[in-house]
Amino acid sequence: MRMILVGPPGAGKGTQAARLIERLRIPHISSGDMLRAAVKEGTALGKAADGFMKAGQLVPDDVVIGMILERIGKPDAANGFMLDGFPRTAPQAEALDQAMTRAGVALDAVVLIEVPDQLIVDRVVGRRSDPETGAIYHLTFNPPPAEIAGRLVHRKDDTLEAVNARQAKYHSETTPIIPFYEAKGILLRVDGVGDPDAVTQRLVAALAAKT
Ligand code: AP5
Ligand code: MG
Repeated sequence: MRMILVGPPGAGKGTQAARLIERLRIPHISSGDMLRAAVKEGTALGKAADGFMKAGQLVPDDVVIGMILERIGKPDAANGFMLDGFPRTAPQAEALDQAMTRAGVALDAVVLIEVPDQLIVDRVVGRRSDPETGAIYHLTFNPPPAEIAGRLVHRKDDTLEAVNARQAKYHSETTPIIPFYEAKGILLRVDGVGDPDAVTQRLVAALAAKT
């Protein structure tokens, strides 16, 4: 299965990807996670990306396209992958399409996790992540166990100001790619509101039709 998870900031892409890859046994490739790892390591890529990310702006297309095309060319992605957060602009969608055509493979599904704007800020500002396991929590909606509370991190772009910028970028840059996939007949729309288990069930049901 070669698939993409698309959705606004805080839609639950990371939360749902962690659950789905256990079933699908494909690598979860999150552009945001890869960029945050590069920032933490202080690589040239990380230095180039840091300022954009903190401000809730998009990292330039050429940087992200190179990073992701290299990653999906690795052996563990040969039989499938789950992209999360890429593509999120029209040039990124075109570059992916061309690279996959050259490789003689095709996308099976593009899943759009739909969450209304008014729910996004609470989800994002209350998010905390465990740097040791990568697990994603929410102070209210998915509280972390007390024993790990001290080590949790709050993303630098999970401020009210950066979330507003990220939401605006989602609407201006990412939603225009949705008709591209709809025209290919591979777009699946899934309601991302409600209990995360219920969202997982909806995703599994939508994907079952594609496998
Ligand atoms: P990225 O890391 O991709 O961030 P994002 O798209 O804004 O998405 P998030 O990770 O914030 O949300 P999510 O959908 O994964 O939600 P989660 O499961 O964590 O990108 C970050 C930055 O990197 C970008 O702004 C940009 O600068 C750069 N970047 C990345 N990719 C790029 C690209 N392709 N091009 C250019 N730049 C790029 O859930 C969120 C919270 O909600 C959690 O607390 C969770 O517990 C909670 N939650 C989850 N599900 C539910 C539910 N059903 N009900 C209630 N709460 C829930
Ligand atoms: Mg995420």
